Amino acid sequence: MTAVSIENRDNIALVWVYNPPVNALSHSVRDGLKNAMRAIAEDDTIDAAVIACRGRTFIAGADIREFGAPPKAPHLTEVVQIIEDMEKPITAAIHGTALGGGLEVALSCHYRIALSTAKIGLPEVKLGILPGAGGTQRFPRVAGVENALDAIISGRHIKAKQALSWGALDELVDDDLEAAALAFARTTIKKGVRRTGEMTIDGTTYDQAFFDGFRASIARRTRGYFAPERCIRCVEAAVKLPLKEGLEAERKNFQECFSNSQAKAMQHVFFAERQVSRVPGISKETPRREIKKVGIIGAGTMGGGIAMNFANIGMPVTLLEVQQDALDRGLSVVRKNYERSAAKGKLTAEQVEQRMGLFTGTMEYADLGDCDLIIEAVFETMDIKKKVFTALDEVAKPDAILASNTSYLDIDAIAAVTNRPSDVLGLHFFSPANVMRLLEIVRADKTADDVLATCVDLARKIGKVGVVSGVCHGFIGNRMLSQYAREMSLSVIEGAMPHEVDKAMYDFGMAMGPMTVSDMAGLDIGYLNRKGMDRADYETRATDWIDRVVEMDRKGLKTGAGIYDYDEGSRTPKPSDTVMAVIEEESAKLGIERTPKTADEIVERGMLALINEGAKILGEGIAIRASDIDIVYLNGYGFPPYRGGPMHYADQMGLKAVYEKICAYGEKFGERWWQPAPLLKELAEKGQSFADYDKKQGA
Ligand code: CAA
Repeated sequence: MTAVSIENRDNIALVWVYNPPVNALSHSVRDGLKNAMRAIAEDDTIDAAVIACRGRTFIAGADIREFGAPPKAPHLTEVVQIIEDMEKPITAAIHGTALGGGLEVALSCHYRIALSTAKIGLPEVKLGILPGAGGTQRFPRVAGVENALDAIISGRHIKAKQALSWGALDELVDDDLEAAALAFARTTIKKGVRRTGEMTIDGTTYDQAFFDGFRASIARRTRGYFAPERCIRCVEAAVKLPLKEGLEAERKNFQECFSNSQAKAMQHVFFAERQVSRVPGISKETPRREIKKVGIIGAGTMGGGIAMNFANIGMPVTLLEVQQDALDRGLSVVRKNYERSAAKGKLTAEQVEQRMGLFTGTMEYADLGDCDLIIEAVFETMDIKKKVFTALDEVAKPDAILASNTSYLDIDAIAAVTNRPSDVLGLHFFSPANVMRLLEIVRADKTADDVLATCVDLARKIGKVGVVSGVCHGFIGNRMLSQYAREMSLSVIEGAMPHEVDKAMYDFGMAMGPMTVSDMAGLDIGYLNRKGMDRADYETRATDWIDRVVEMDRKGLKTGAGIYDYDEGSRTPKPSDTVMAVIEEESAKLGIERTPKTADEIVERGMLALINEGAKILGEGIAIRASDIDIVYLNGYGFPPYRGGPMHYADQMGLKAVYEKICAYGEKFGERWWQPAPLLKELAEKGQSFADYDKKQGA
């Protein structure tokens, strides 16, 4: 089937676009649309036309895969202008999603009809760019300036009903879009063309103060991003300038975004997110187990949060605790979370009750006997985990999947206490588990393929991005984190103060600085861990100053003091004179002459620690691909999406430079922590990147 074809339906041309899977605007579609418009203009038997799509969706945008290649005419800007300039009325018939360039095509049509289930949107900002084929000029004209700014800056999908209320759609139908669009098009013959580009915006209310106010309102959420400001400039141009000049402004801003490294990073993230569910050894043909009921062991913050994910998709959950009061407390926290969502208007009171109705509390392991998946979220010690799995082995039905939510422990050892190690795997959720998108799916030595495949699918169903990891201490994310945390803490003992380290990393784009994160997580957990370890096994220079802080009963935010001071009831960290004095004393004790550190030095040290460990994890086969590591860091550790993740960041630096810097660190800081990863060395010597490695692995 050709990408674009025309049917003549009683003098209405029905232009079909067909470019699976999402009818992206590849060259063949652009060319096909241009030719179709010419044919319609020249055909006297045709009075009006409909542009519709076959398959699951209307055009979902430009073909992102073509972004790296030299652009090939006709460009989308030309195609949309040809459509808008047509003398015969053109109607877009939208189902599925009309996104990005797809919506720009629809906006260049003279009318738009849609299925009531359809959605529209301009998600370019999520790819680090902006709508570059008139979207920033035409959308404000049909939908209003405020709505256009909301849509373009958020990139969100807008439901058809809302789009209709904004004026971006003309009519909605519940079914048979084809027939409805043909009937609608017939009515346009009389009405004639209605060109979006000829509409004007009453600019009087949209003065400088309006745009400045808008900028201030989004400043926090767009911190560090390049494209949003350019989007605003384009909408300002739509208000102030005629279409032609507005389009020129859009072009200029588009080019600036397109050539910025953020665009490359965010496009990398788009494809990386879609790669994670491709797992060697697993395919569509791999059988799946049916999951209809879930059991969760432990009703603490983690267990309750995990349970909510399943109740949210309508799945019954049995929540097990050893004590009635802990169970009651857990269930009441879940209820409070739902009620908070209801207060924000995200759920109705009825939905809260429906979800709570899916929970059954119990203190009896036997009550987990009918669960298809059981996830343990109890205290993080091997002894306790082994006891839980021994008990589970007795009560779980055959074929039930048994998962541990451990953050660090050896899943093989946990699986070994059962008589069914092939049913066991790790499902490592991140706190708060009902909010954070990341799920590490830990494939143990004996985990069966169907168990893994079921959990990979399940991750998607509960709205998580599930990344498969092999077994090692801390899996992908926490193993890397420990290297980063150590180097950040060493930066403190060598000369930077905690707030300087945090500022450097925050300004780099991290959601939070490492010291603030430590205070939030609680300093006592690491402290207690270290007490059970041999001092030779960790870097005491990085931890002794923190141990002293804990011993002053400063355990972090929960005790109102940690690395930072906190005012009563406040979560805002304030540099602490007490802690800074401790740090200086500890540096002196170690004979370290404190020297100031620049933000660049701090960032480089943190990034190189992450990259080197990431390369080890990749080389050992713990992560399937470098881009999976990026997804872990972006979704679980607050890494800025516009930098693409630590491995993409390394590729941007060039692996040769990364390798040389790590070798130089080895000389400067000692080789104990700065042994370059063998894979990094190999790729650097070959002049290759992590992306090349992923490609070569066929991953
Ligand atoms: N270009 C190329 N491939 C695309 C694509 C696009 N715009 N959108 C989706 N795909 C591919 C995906 O990579 C995926 O491929 P694989 O199966 O090989 O992994 C396949 O289509 C299906 O995609 P999803 O798995 O995401 O399917 P879904 O049903 O969950 O979601 C969707 C469908 C809502 C359309 C989603 O794919 C999506 O949001 N796509 C991106 C839309 C977008 O950003 N459009 C704007 C592009 S930029 C632009 O248009 C600006 C311009 O004019 C220059």
